[in-house]
Amino acid sequence: MLPTLDARLTAAAELVLPGKPVADIGCDHGKLTAVLAASGKYPRVIGADLRPGPLAKAEQTLEHAGCKDRVELRLGDGLSVLSAGEVGTIVLAGVSAQTTWEIIEQAPWVSQVGGPRLVMVPATRHSELRRWLWEHGFALAADRPVQAAGRWYAVMAAEYTGEVRIPTFTECLFGRTAEWPEGAGYAAWQKAKLPRFRLGVPDGTELAEEIDKLLDGSPSQTR
Ligand SMILES: C[S@@+](CC[C@H](N)C(=O)[O-])C[C@H]1O[C@@H](n2cnc3c(N)ncnc32)[C@H](O)[C@@H]1O
Repeated sequence: MLPTLDARLTAAAELVLPGKPVADIGCDHGKLTAVLAASGKYPRVIGADLRPGPLAKAEQTLEHAGCKDRVELRLGDGLSVLSAGEVGTIVLAGVSAQTTWEIIEQAPWVSQVGGPRLVMVPATRHSELRRWLWEHGFALAADRPVQAAGRWYAVMAAEYTGEVRIPTFTECLFGRTAEWPEGAGYAAWQKAKLPRFRLGVPDGTELAEEIDKLLDGSPSQTR
């Protein structure tokens, strides 16, 4: 039986480029890996994890879904399990923003024009991942807000263009989520965290001014 995906992973699956191989890095339970394999849209599906325990879980999921023979499971750290040019899309879902960018940094072949699409669902610090991506030459092709298990997530797709962009705090906070009907709910959730964050920002700084504007109810529009 095919596993059911939560809203995060459903949105992530929709951002995977069809017709090219895909790797689900940090696949854990293997649910997304199984759904990708069963879809028949990708010539090759790779599921990988740092630890053998999760990979064993993934193997079971694939067996139950009847698609074990359509997936290659690989054990290893981040993108070390892949070679340059091997896949069209890399999914990194459910790890922290920092783990996400550290994994990308360790594979310089990703940061090349024409390199793979990255589909990411950071478990934490969405804003910081957006900043990292823009400051490291990636463009956000999609940035979709979704709710799962009572929390907001941002499901992002990024591609390397080499164009470095220094974003504002506000741009990092909301990304392109305002393009979606759920954007207002996501923005309210992001804004709700600001008063606490503001306590650590010295008065009189540009950042303090920007945050105060957001808290005054100024438009939360982003690029
Ligand atoms: C919380 S689970 C997320 C599972 C699934 N991707 C999801 O979003 O539901 C995180 C998984 O990432 C794996 N992981 C953490 N760091 C990793 C790394 N550097 N390389 C590969 N896998 C990693 C963990 O072992 C764990 O199985």
